[in-house]
Amino acid sequence: MRPPGVRITNSPTFRGHFRLRGDKSISHRAAILGALAFGETRIENFSSAADCAATLRCLAELGVEVSQRGDAVTLRGRGPEAWRAPAGPLDAGNSGSTLRMLAGALAGRPFRSVLTGDASLRRRPVERVAAPLRAMGAVAASTDGRPPLTIEGGPLEGIRWGLPVPSAQVKTAVLLAGLQARGTTTVLEPMPSRDHTERLLPVFGSGVERAGLAVSVVGGGRLRAATLTVPGDVSSAAFLIVAALIRPRSEVRIEGVSLNPGRTGFLDVLKAMGARIDTGLTETEPEPVGWIVAASSRLRGTVVPPQAVPALIDEVPALAVAAAHAEGTFVISGAAELRVKESDRIAALAEGLARMGARVEERPDGLVIQGGAPLRGAAVRVHDDHRIAMALAVAALSAEGETEIENGECASVSFPDFFDLLEEGRRG
Ligand code: S3P
Repeated sequence: MRPPGVRITNSPTFRGHFRLRGDKSISHRAAILGALAFGETRIENFSSAADCAATLRCLAELGVEVSQRGDAVTLRGRGPEAWRAPAGPLDAGNSGSTLRMLAGALAGRPFRSVLTGDASLRRRPVERVAAPLRAMGAVAASTDGRPPLTIEGGPLEGIRWGLPVPSAQVKTAVLLAGLQARGTTTVLEPMPSRDHTERLLPVFGSGVERAGLAVSVVGGGRLRAATLTVPGDVSSAAFLIVAALIRPRSEVRIEGVSLNPGRTGFLDVLKAMGARIDTGLTETEPEPVGWIVAASSRLRGTVVPPQAVPALIDEVPALAVAAAHAEGTFVISGAAELRVKESDRIAALAEGLARMGARVEERPDGLVIQGGAPLRGAAVRVHDDHRIAMALAVAALSAEGETEIENGECASVSFPDFFDLLEEGRRG
């Protein structure tokens, strides 16, 4: 028998004041850099995501001393030379970031490791990271372009590598290998992707040069341990924000959240759709941090151009729900990468929202949504994708009747508190 899904009913309003656990992207990077550094790194407000726990587990299997107390993680780094061959395959679970970024760090280590993950991760492309690591001198063998990915590291040569698609994970992997390579390593991106690695490297004592779409590091230096606090996860915030926008008499305030422009593209799109959103910066270095207030809004459709996509790629599920509540047509294109995320998000969103009564058309590289059709509760599939589960749960707040979200618990991949906070917002 199929396990029961999470059941969500209509909520007349959605209100609340939230402070969220640390950003997933920043937490992964801080942990890996701390593991490569010398000394004790302390990371406060570390992400509670299952994905980031996978990164910590893999680092521990590589011989790094990792401990966690509440939301603080401590890593006792002894430099990359202290990393040891893992006893078995490194299991990244559902986390593409863990697998791809660790592949880069491992490319400089003189032992063999096998990186793998769950069924979803084993369907995702890894040649994009294996190819530059091979060009630098490592052995990097995928399984028909997918995990398991075997890395046998060794002496690396710096390279100049042009990314065919913008990917912050691949950029990070090449830079982490570059830190251990001879000479300079440069990554060129076709469009800017999130820059957390570039911002964190100096925090760990490494030089990094940025010139337009190029980022360079010089290998052979030593990273030193750091103490840092991770800002709240803005990708998690996106679901609470859209919940407030689509319900009447609703408002959310989110404090201490990342406002990195490489991540807040969805706020710009929502504002263009007529959303009442205010933000304020409280910190700028090393990462922009601040608050966001969002309130019930009359939304209208918009066209999201391809160049806007990298800064909102993970928020398309939340944006699609906003679009289903907007007057007129919402179009997003140039987002074919969505087809190789934790699920094929274009197909999964089209299927789930259509089951709830939305008018959604799937395109090879995007979606067209005619907003305004009333939503009704339905049994929906999430294809084991945390962001599809959360998007459909938010849509359920405005649907008539009950929505049953199959395997909604997978939200814990990025946002374990999601259903609790959804309940908090519903109670207002
Ligand atoms: C991430 C980069 C993006 C994003 C993912 C996290 C990161 O993936 O979708 O959720 O932390 O660097 P790609 O690098 O594959 O674009």
